Amino acid sequence: MRVDIISAFPDMFKAVANESIIKIAREKKFLDLEIHNLRDFTTDKHRSIDDTPYGGGPGMLLKAEPFFLAVEELASKKSFVVLLTPQGELLNQKKVQNLSKKEHFIMLCGHYEGVDERVRSLADAEISIGDYVLTGGELPAMVLLDSITRKQNGVLGSQESLLEESFEKSLLEYPQYTKPAEFRGMKVPDVLLSGNHQKIASWRAKQAVKRTSEKRPDLLKENK
Ligand SMILES: C[S@@+](CC[C@H](N)C(=O)[O-])C[C@H]1O[C@@H](n2cnc3c(N)ncnc32)[C@H](O)[C@@H]1O
Repeated sequence: MRVDIISAFPDMFKAVANESIIKIAREKKFLDLEIHNLRDFTTDKHRSIDDTPYGGGPGMLLKAEPFFLAVEELASKKSFVVLLTPQGELLNQKKVQNLSKKEHFIMLCGHYEGVDERVRSLADAEISIGDYVLTGGELPAMVLLDSITRKQNGVLGSQESLLEESFEKSLLEYPQYTKPAEFRGMKVPDVLLSGNHQKIASWRAKQAVKRTSEKRPDLLKENK
């Protein structure tokens, strides 16, 4: 998978690109990641990327032209352009599953008061990571990048663990424990120490439903 991210603050991505799963995915060549500075797609001598909104109002908007020039330079027929915006469709695991099949992403990050409305016409999808407003599209782009990268075949050691994760079957994951078997009086359930794989699987299935009905009953309705 190839991912190009267009941002006015490209340095924000340094840590994410060079740690943990994204780093491993890049090293193993599952992910070809390029972070682009929006300023590199300007044509004026001041390399200006923002301006005041027509009609007045507070703050600055990112201009349309640098985003258009960036997409025109980077896009091919296989590209899928995502605008990160709090006004977009809410990201969830189902969307992550579908998006992770795409071969090439171009992610557009807004900042300040947002982007010129005409930037929307570049996007194949507008994605929000939640009903709250962040300072820029950089953190949302990192969230999207992480969620689709870990779905690429071979990126995680065990593909099995992916299928068991929260939201995969509209259920939260069952409780998990590691050593020691007792910690400050809190014991690991006997069944997990039993070595009986059938019993463990059945306990986990029941716990996933119990946990979901306690914490996220709305997800169980999605299953019906
Ligand atoms: C301060 S926000 C602009 C919000 C805009 N004025 C509005 O009310 O819709 C600046 C940028 O952060 C990004 N952003 C903020 N919250 C986001 C969210 N929940 N999901 C995705 N992107 C978000 C977008 O790229 C947005 O253009």
